[in-house]
Amino acid sequence: MQIYLNGRFTSRDDATISVNDRGFLFGDGIYEVIRIINGRLFRLDAHLRRMDRSLGGLEIPFTSQQRAGLPAIMGKLISDNKLQKGEGTIYLQITRGAALPRTHAYPHDNTPPTVLVMASPFVPDKETLEKGGQGITVTDIRWSRCDLKTVNLLPNIMAAQQEKKQNAKGVLMVRDGYITEGYKNNVFAVFDGTLWTYPDSPYILSGITRDVVFEIAEQEGIPVKLHPVDQKQILNADEVMLTGTITDIHPIVSIDGQRIGSGRPGPVTKTLQKGLRHRMDTE
Ligand code: PDD
Repeated sequence: MQIYLNGRFTSRDDATISVNDRGFLFGDGIYEVIRIINGRLFRLDAHLRRMDRSLGGLEIPFTSQQRAGLPAIMGKLISDNKLQKGEGTIYLQITRGAALPRTHAYPHDNTPPTVLVMASPFVPDKETLEKGGQGITVTDIRWSRCDLKTVNLLPNIMAAQQEKKQNAKGVLMVRDGYITEGYKNNVFAVFDGTLWTYPDSPYILSGITRDVVFEIAEQEGIPVKLHPVDQKQILNADEVMLTGTITDIHPIVSIDGQRIGSGRPGPVTKTLQKGLRHRMDTE
């Protein structure tokens, strides 16, 4: 596999990163995951805007010239890795770079950031998309800047490990009694035809797929309520779903062993799935 690292295209096996890299030492970096469909990058501009926000939040210096170069780098990786047909993902990570000595405070602004871009094939989990998954709740133990897409993902990977151990397909994180989001996706619930989701806040990552869901809902006349849903209330939802770049729209048919709605993917979920697929295939 060919990847891009700090100005060079190289094979993944040959790429190396300094032991002084602050991404390695402090988790001092941000990332984005972008869907590739038949060689096209779905909602690239929205991902780059969110990247800007994360970089700005951490004050990582990244020049407009470097930013302007990203689409061409991604395009080359798509063709070098033969991803012009079918599904794939771009993984983009930018850290504050390698700096000595190891000090917590940010190093001088002239430290070049480490820029890594990789393109890989991706296989959507068709069975879960069609049949839905059994969800579990876990306590949201993350910090108060979940709106920045940083590589500090320990609470997320611990939640994913719970999911794996319990043989579940979907995690809903709970902060102060309310469902915030998943460890790699946002959560929506349907009550009487209205879609509810956690409002924009430092406690969630505002998903690009979440924004697409808002667009489809508007087009289809599905009302949306930006309001937290509590952990008990969600068990009475007619439908629950997770949304994200590598999740698409994944129905949740039970939570902690309790059936949601009919126990099958519901009509609002199916409408949104269709709308997302249509956009991914045609944009
Ligand atoms: N995760 N919430 C969290 C905590 C996420 O990590 C993600 C994305 C989302 C959904 O955002 P989007 O729709 O823009 O993908 C919500 C990526 C895909 C990941 O960590 O792999």
